Amino acid sequence: MKLKIPFQERVSLGYSLARTIHFTVQQMSLPIFEMILTGKVKRPPQLEPQKIQRAYQELYKLLKKDSQNIASGIYPLEVLKPEKATRHLLRFPRILLDGYGLSKRRQKKEAKSFNSEAQEYLSDLPEYYKRNFHFQTGGYLTEHSADLYEHQVEILFSGSADAMRRLIIPLVKQAYPGQGEGLHFLEVAAGTGRLTRFMKLAFPKARITVLDLSDPYLKRARVNLNNFDRLDFVQGAAENLPFADQKFDVVYSCFVFHELPFEIRKKVLEESARVLKEGGLIGLVDSLQHDDMTELAWALEQFPIDFHEPFYKNYIQNPMEGLLAYQGFTDFKKDVGFLSKALLAKRPISS
Ligand SMILES: C[S@@+](CC[C@H](N)C(=O)[O-])C[C@H]1O[C@@H](n2cnc3c(N)ncnc32)[C@H](O)[C@@H]1O
Repeated sequence: MKLKIPFQERVSLGYSLARTIHFTVQQMSLPIFEMILTGKVKRPPQLEPQKIQRAYQELYKLLKKDSQNIASGIYPLEVLKPEKATRHLLRFPRILLDGYGLSKRRQKKEAKSFNSEAQEYLSDLPEYYKRNFHFQTGGYLTEHSADLYEHQVEILFSGSADAMRRLIIPLVKQAYPGQGEGLHFLEVAAGTGRLTRFMKLAFPKARITVLDLSDPYLKRARVNLNNFDRLDFVQGAAENLPFADQKFDVVYSCFVFHELPFEIRKKVLEESARVLKEGGLIGLVDSLQHDDMTELAWALEQFPIDFHEPFYKNYIQNPMEGLLAYQGFTDFKKDVGFLSKALLAKRPISS
């Protein structure tokens, strides 16, 4: 007997697949635009068809899981609400031009190029952070970068980045069903607030403190999240949290640990444990690591070749599960989706 897929799941999945096609077309147009500008034809890396097929299967599985989560009410359909079409389309030519700049920086291996706006912030920031991660224009330190960031990430992951971010929500929901009344979350390295938006939709009554090192990204997060209440914005470093001990019920992050040196990764977990209540939860979404899915290991090897990611190789070799356990976290929950994984663990209650 064939099981019928619920209507809302079909609608969500259909929309997400169309969205993936849309961002994949944008992704493919970046090298074509560069070719038109430079007149030089670049051969794309030759990948075995089975590898590509496997990657797209994993992407499909992720979108399906995301649609099931919507249909079962773990988070509302509103997570799929697109931005205004004009905003989206007017940004795209800027992304094409920016892609050309990024590609030139990649060729010259130039990862410390900052304009005057970005330079104003540099003296207050840690050394490992003062770089153009992904060869991104302005690093995380300009309004221009903050304006393009979410759209660029979605292009990079063929429209799956949002679904990857949302992988953490069902794990938190299992521990805290309901609207989040009385709970205080801390999101570290929240960037422009993309996952914060999804968390607020899933836990509308929770208070969320939104922290990031980047002033321009935090400003953008304020704008992006201006229709939500119970939010605080704090500029600060995840490895030196400006909060009292045992303040939060959940501390979580998305796509940051792979951009941190090993010692800073450990410090961030230590600080997270400090500001968590006993029995509180730490959650993270980040890239898959070496042993998570051997079939996609080739993509993990390729990523730091194509993009400036100096700490990524060390990240994929050192499982986050081990670092969390070393810090005393227990009761692990895990999920994987396409190129990312979500982990949730508990700070034990002292006896
Ligand atoms: C790849 S982005 C991820 C942003 C966001 N979490 C998302 O899902 O799009 C990495 C973010 O981490 C922030 N970041 C990097 N190192 C940090 C640190 N030590 N403390 C706080 N934020 C940091 C950057 O400013 C940037 O916004």
